[in-house]
Amino acid sequence: MKVAPSMLSCDFSKMGEETRRISKAGADLLHLDVMDGHFVPNITIGPSVIASIRPCSELPFDVHLMIDDPLKYAEAFAKAGADYITFHVEASSDIDETIEKIRSLGVKPGIVLKPKTPAEAAFPYLDKVDMVLVMTVEPGFGGQSFMEDMMPKVRALRNEIDRRGLSTLIEADGGISEKTIAACSKAGVDIAVSGTGVFKAKDPAEAIRKLQSY
Ligand code: DX5
Ligand code: ZN
Repeated sequence: MKVAPSMLSCDFSKMGEETRRISKAGADLLHLDVMDGHFVPNITIGPSVIASIRPCSELPFDVHLMIDDPLKYAEAFAKAGADYITFHVEASSDIDETIEKIRSLGVKPGIVLKPKTPAEAAFPYLDKVDMVLVMTVEPGFGGQSFMEDMMPKVRALRNEIDRRGLSTLIEADGGISEKTIAACSKAGVDIAVSGTGVFKAKDPAEAIRKLQSY
């Protein structure tokens, strides 16, 4: 299992330091949650903050856009240093156009499914994206409880990706910790996002290693 700590749970008063600390702790990617106060009822960070922490880590930046119009802002996040840009299929931008735009910027595109959105919503795009992100909480806040009932959705995506011989990655996000990682692994998740599970652990490096062992 690859592990992407979510910076949403870091100490924002020292974000550069936190970025260095968690990168050195053995993370595989860094997950950055962008919220606009429209698509979700919370506001977080934008391109300028991401650009400012870019020099603090060599890890791939996995930018999760929870915003209404990802097409409009894709370029700003690419310039800020994103390696992956994932956006919600429930957002208002045209999905194919947004995927193409992200790819044209030299960034790997991914799509995200909210809990109520079925696996089939991702099927038309599986060969066009590098990643499908399955939300295991309602997007908007860290520290929520893992929705185990999302595992059949992960399994359906895993089966379809394997059936077509694709290498599209499956990421899961929300409430993932030592207690819930086994279910993710069993269902076929490739990358686990973990905010609280890593940042609130006594030893984040050990927490990352444990998650990676699944
Ligand atoms: C929720 C975010 C998640 C969240 C994960 O909207 O997309 O990335 O920060 O945090 P935990 O692991 O605390 O659920
Ligand atoms: Zn996220």
